Amino acid sequence: AAATKDGHSSFMAKEIHEQPEAVRRTLSGRLGSDGAVSLGELGISDKALARIQKIVIVACGTASYGGQIAKYALERWCRIPVEVDLAHEFRYRSPLVDDRTLVIAISQSGETMDTLMAVRYAREQGATVLAICNTVGATIPREADGVLYTHAGPEVAVASTKAFLTQVTATLLLALYLAQMRGSGDPTEISAAARELAGIPGRVQSVLAGAGQIEALAASMADVTSVLFIGRHVGHPVAMEGALKLKELAYIHAEGFAAGELKHGPIALIEPGQAVVVIMPSPAASPVLHAKMMSTIQEIKARGGRVIAVGEEGDAATTADALLTVPASSPLLAPLLTAIPLQLFAASLAGAKGLDIDQPRNLAKSVTVE
Ligand code: G6P
Repeated sequence: AAATKDGHSSFMAKEIHEQPEAVRRTLSGRLGSDGAVSLGELGISDKALARIQKIVIVACGTASYGGQIAKYALERWCRIPVEVDLAHEFRYRSPLVDDRTLVIAISQSGETMDTLMAVRYAREQGATVLAICNTVGATIPREADGVLYTHAGPEVAVASTKAFLTQVTATLLLALYLAQMRGSGDPTEISAAARELAGIPGRVQSVLAGAGQIEALAASMADVTSVLFIGRHVGHPVAMEGALKLKELAYIHAEGFAAGELKHGPIALIEPGQAVVVIMPSPAASPVLHAKMMSTIQEIKARGGRVIAVGEEGDAATTADALLTVPASSPLLAPLLTAIPLQLFAASLAGAKGLDIDQPRNLAKSVTVE
């Protein structure tokens, strides 16, 4: 059946609001009430997974930021070294890949040519390839050794939203599964994270309830010409995703980078009025990083920058000009919440500029050429 907008002004708005349900579908049948993860469908045996010594994630665009988030969870919980490569860079750099490497290809469409060519190269080197894909029966999952489908449902808008959130969810499930199977990581932390993941759809819903505040903020910024996005830890890939969304949808110059890098160069860009979106670490769960981010905000404010913080409810310590709130979470799950205000921000700014957010200029939903 052809997808419809279901009363929303755009497919993208519809897809943003479908995210609680999409994430619920990704988790469905895979995460038990006791926190045990079962991925019997994977198509790669536990014996093969137990032999893995290294993971390489390949993807493009938004999916590559999902991969960068996954690295933090896979390394912390599974104690396996993880590299993340843009798929079009992977096979041209003589990567160290062998039959004890798991290559994870993340692709919404399953048809991105750059990612497909990386999959073929990885298999030639003897690696085991797992696809994380939204489109059942697409080329990448067909050519991979195994697949974990995200089940986000059809994504029509060019800019990825629910596909991204479900990719992150699927990689967290995979990391929990590998950790449970291999007995790695801190079991208390891992079972707490699994139980927390089960409650994420409800928290996604509560972030969406703040959409009105973000629209008002975006409307007040319709004339901005440049926005910087900064984050630490998993907030770094979230910042890059937020910048990509703004470029894609609102045609506004945007750059996402690690907050710790600001002092090593980009701070030269801060002049009065420069907008900086700051992804805040959790004050309770990551107090050290939170304190460092507070001083980064001071550095920006001291130079006249305009700070828009994305942080936990009750992050009263922020001296930001605006605070877009998300519910509290453990650090590795936070991207499932902090990415959402950035989607809404980019869509609202594009809307304020009168742009077509479903079909941005020059872009294709799926790029099937190298
Ligand atoms: C295109 C789209 C992006 C997407 C990227 C990867 O460039 O415009 O939104 O992130 O492809 O797509 P995939 O289907 O492989 O996730």
